[in-house]
Amino acid sequence: MFVPPAAAILAEGSSRLRPRRRRPAREGKTVLKTAICDLFGIEHPIIQGGMAHLGTVELVLAVSNAGALGVIGAGHYEPDWVREQIRLTKQQTSKPFGVNIQLASPFAMEIIEVVLEEGVAIVATGAGNPVPHIPRFKQAGMKVMPIVPSVRLAKRMEEAGVDAIVVEGMESGGHVGETTTMALVPQVVNSVSIPVVAAGGIADGRGLVAALALGAEGIQMGTRFACSEECVAHPRYKQKILEAHDRSTVVTGHTTGFPLRSLQNSLTEQYLELEKAGATSEELDMFARGRMYLGLVEGDTDDGSLLSGQIAGLIKEIKPVRAIIEETVSEAEAIIENLAGLRRQG
Ligand SMILES: Cc1cc2nc3c(=O)[nH]c(=O)nc-3n(C[C@H](O)[C@H](O)[C@H](O)COP(=O)(O)O)c2cc1C
Repeated sequence: MFVPPAAAILAEGSSRLRPRRRRPAREGKTVLKTAICDLFGIEHPIIQGGMAHLGTVELVLAVSNAGALGVIGAGHYEPDWVREQIRLTKQQTSKPFGVNIQLASPFAMEIIEVVLEEGVAIVATGAGNPVPHIPRFKQAGMKVMPIVPSVRLAKRMEEAGVDAIVVEGMESGGHVGETTTMALVPQVVNSVSIPVVAAGGIADGRGLVAALALGAEGIQMGTRFACSEECVAHPRYKQKILEAHDRSTVVTGHTTGFPLRSLQNSLTEQYLELEKAGATSEELDMFARGRMYLGLVEGDTDDGSLLSGQIAGLIKEIKPVRAIIEETVSEAEAIIENLAGLRRQG
């Protein structure tokens, strides 16, 4: 039977994996710890999604130095850029960090060689099948954490020997599947025995506790970290997230097989029109080329792609990464205490 971890995760000053009972407050401060903390050697069960264009050394350092896991987003960047980001990160922190490899990138094979050569400790994979590469990663002693949108793929990844999986619901920013985080996470948790990280629609301590209640051992946040002080995203993109409400995002690209969630703007309107008119995948690719950089980094909020999750509507302030992480954790801890108080005699 699955036991929700919420009662077992407030370990007293300990980072050990073994679930522990909550002790009375007088015995010392309790801290939120899960199997993900132990697996990656991090303080908080929070991972920064390895976002293309935004998962650069600036954000990664801020996240890792604040006790969560920073992840470099290799996106479709050239291998030398990825190598440089890894070296810059290593030079400036001894904390754990990872690299997200987009397997659909034309440089994916070379980037795999770069992460192996540079001795990266943690690899996250998205947008493609990592199975053929897992034995090499494991032989090199790396921790491997693919991102999956379904139970079927989660089971396949476990069989292939990965260490953890990020289960991403369709609320997420970027490429999305078809199932919500709420529905997908508990189904994956029931189907695998490796640690599960919930992603999609999480931006505060309430989301963290919800994920833990569903059986996840941690969370991955993208949109929340994109709207942090340290993130290199253009201020106009961050401002659009601050102005977003619950229905501000839209999914384009259903016809290409690579649906993508972003903030609605002139670009998404035109793209959807093209899809409706029967444009081919090649035509759509040509139309969308370079738009992510244009929107996220250059701040063209009309013609650029503004990847964002549905949770954008909850984000009302650009904050330092450390504040985001500390507030998320302290809010989660307070909620867990409050939830325990809901139980009464008879
Ligand atoms: C701007 C942006 C870029 C992203 N780029 C990538 C990427 O390159 N690779 C990837 O695996 N996920 C990418 N994602 C997804 C995030 O890593 C993360 O899983 C997702 O944002 C979680 O959902 P949330 O936005 O609701 O927090 C991106 C998300 C955003 C918002």
